[in-house]
Amino acid sequence: MPGTTATDLPSFPFPELNDNPFDPLAYQERLPEQGPITRVALPTGGWAWLLTQLADVREVLRSPAFSADIMKPGFPLLRPLPAQRDARDRAGVFIRMDPPEHGRYRRMLTPEFMIKSVRRLEPLIQRTVEGFLDDMIAAGPPADLVASFALPVPSLVICHLLGVPYDDHDFFQSRSRVLLSNTTSVADAQAAADELQDYLSRLVTAKERDGGDDLLGRLVAHRLRDGQLTHDEAIGMALLLLVAGHETTANMIGLSTLVLLRHREQFEALGVDPGRAPALVEELLRYLTIVRSGLPRIAVEDAVVGGQQIRAGEGVIALLPAANRDEAVFVDADRFDVDRGGQHHVAFGFGVHQCIGQPLARTELRIALAALAQRLPTLRLAVPPDEVAVRPSFIHGLQKLPVTW
Ligand code: HEM
Repeated sequence: MPGTTATDLPSFPFPELNDNPFDPLAYQERLPEQGPITRVALPTGGWAWLLTQLADVREVLRSPAFSADIMKPGFPLLRPLPAQRDARDRAGVFIRMDPPEHGRYRRMLTPEFMIKSVRRLEPLIQRTVEGFLDDMIAAGPPADLVASFALPVPSLVICHLLGVPYDDHDFFQSRSRVLLSNTTSVADAQAAADELQDYLSRLVTAKERDGGDDLLGRLVAHRLRDGQLTHDEAIGMALLLLVAGHETTANMIGLSTLVLLRHREQFEALGVDPGRAPALVEELLRYLTIVRSGLPRIAVEDAVVGGQQIRAGEGVIALLPAANRDEAVFVDADRFDVDRGGQHHVAFGFGVHQCIGQPLARTELRIALAALAQRLPTLRLAVPPDEVAVRPSFIHGLQKLPVTW
């Protein structure tokens, strides 16, 4: 772009996106006045178009003119790629692939995440939720709701689904946290990825030997044995599910509880009528939009988005939290409003990469929040609200949530 260098542009990601649990758009006050599509400087050098309106975000995420392949030169990276990468780093990680390659892997998992498959997991989710609540209540107040409830529930569920021993959760939780943290160095991120890959490699080998009635066991039995999938591809798919599957939902449970404690009438109403959970969860997903730094893509052909010409080779960032507060779509968008029917949100992304785990995430959230409201109607914060700290991460979440009852 002639005349402007990346250093003249506002630096992305904006700290306010991560610092503010309920006001992700506070960054706007710092920006020079610009339109809905602006350019931002990236921490890895260069710049990208920042898309903030729902229609533009949807258009880019569904358009074949934009690629999710981080290896494409000029891809808008928020953290540099390690210099040395082996083929194992990419195999099976379909979130970074484009069609038709992407669809080959995704289709192998589709049956596992269909609504009817997730429905079969409901009794396990309910038992898990009640079990961690029993333990927390037995230990007595105060408690850190993140450590005692928000994190272990999705972690145990994803372990059960995949066939990963829950006893190892400390190991993979700490490594995925390193991977997702926005303060992690390239070397530390690579080391964490290596350790997770080694761990999952041993697990896939064990499934090849012993079988298993779980997602990984089925992948090995139906896809790896007949040559549709390699050992490394199975590792990549498992890694993606393990990392994407627990920290996201865990962060949503913690943050959602905080929102409900601020909107006590909603919490109390949920305790009386768990049937309110689906609408509540939808609005929480929109309002919190935990994938705060947005979804990066690169244009592979020239395109016009929201009237803006975007050239092949230019990067874009679909800023989900901004799109989910687009006033043109969501009236009084900064207000938490359970009755708005906010189904059109993009908290799970949009297009071919739209979250495959969303039926599971929704189910976990509904069951966890309803049980919390029913069993602990007097739940409240054990510290002043401004002492509740957020975690430095590409996925928005709380460090701790000190509560009492
Ligand atoms: C509330 C919780 C969750 C949120 C907010 C969330 C959000 C997202 C978003 C925004 C994307 C799109 C990424 C992109 O387009 O680049 C995505 C993709 C994905 N999510 Fe989730 N997710 C959640 C829970 C889960 C769970 C529970 C699982 C698995 C068990 C999961 C697995 C995945 C996978 C595998 C992808 C890649 C899909 C593809 O590329 O086709 N997510 N998620």
